[in-house]
Amino acid sequence: MSKIALVTGGSRGIGAAISVALKEAGYTVAANYAGNDEAAAKFTAETGIKTYKWSVADYDACAAGIAQVEADLGPVSVLVNNAGITRDAMFHRMTRQQWQEVMDTNLNGLFNMTHPLWTGMRDRKFGRVINISSINGQKGQAGQANYSAAKAGDLGFTKALAQEGARAGITVNAICPGYIGTEMVMAVPEKVRESIIAQIPVGRLGEATEIARCVVFLASDDAGFITGSTISANGGQFVV
Ligand SMILES: NC(=O)c1ccc[n+]([C@@H]2O[C@H](COP(=O)([O-])OP(=O)(O)OC[C@H]3O[C@@H](n4cnc5c(N)ncnc54)[C@H](OP(=O)(O)O)[C@@H]3O)[C@@H](O)[C@H]2O)c1
Repeated sequence: MSKIALVTGGSRGIGAAISVALKEAGYTVAANYAGNDEAAAKFTAETGIKTYKWSVADYDACAAGIAQVEADLGPVSVLVNNAGITRDAMFHRMTRQQWQEVMDTNLNGLFNMTHPLWTGMRDRKFGRVINISSINGQKGQAGQANYSAAKAGDLGFTKALAQEGARAGITVNAICPGYIGTEMVMAVPEKVRESIIAQIPVGRLGEATEIARCVVFLASDDAGFITGSTISANGGQFVV
């Protein structure tokens, strides 16, 4: 079985931690990204992990990008759908563009990336699809009707596809991170960050490596009986 893993949004933030953890676990990793060439080049220089630029919002670009990764490295057996964006606004101010951009990346991106890989995984009778959703897809969040809807959609996609993949040796699972101390969260004013932490029972932000370890477990043979599941990694902030 090939040990090739493809991580979308794998050059920064949580995705970068996932790429590195999979590499450390013995996978050959391809990290996709959207446009930040500087961050991608720095990531490759630091980790030796190859990066590939395309938008997960574009089906044809995904098919072409995946074909390139497989030509370079071999068949992909682990797909981590991590790429995600926010376009926050209260609903009465939300534009169609803000709605559409989030849907295109955070929900349609899962179709665009998984569909071109699905037949190969079925033929090889093995696959791991791991979708990074969010606590806000589970509980909803004011100012994020677009993001919460897309992330909840990711969970429905996970559960349905798990049932289709089961007989073909493909597991499909989701992880819902709570607030993780990525650049984005660390950049908010300290007072806002403190108010976020006050809502987290364990009393701290999560670390990207804690999400990455969940991914490595779900990708492993040890997790072969787990499919259609959601791991909530949120410090107790929302208990499903
Ligand atoms: N941070 C949190 O606290 C948190 C909590 C819950 C869930 N999540 C979810 O975890 C995932 C990672 O979040 P993060 O905070 O690590 O994000 P981040 O630091 O903003 O990094 C996002 C990554 O996704 C890539 N990306 C964005 N749009 C893309 C597109 N259309 N096509 C391909 N790649 C794209 C970016 O590429 P460029 O570098 O080229 O921009 C970047 O590599 C997201 O799905 C997010 O919704 C995060």
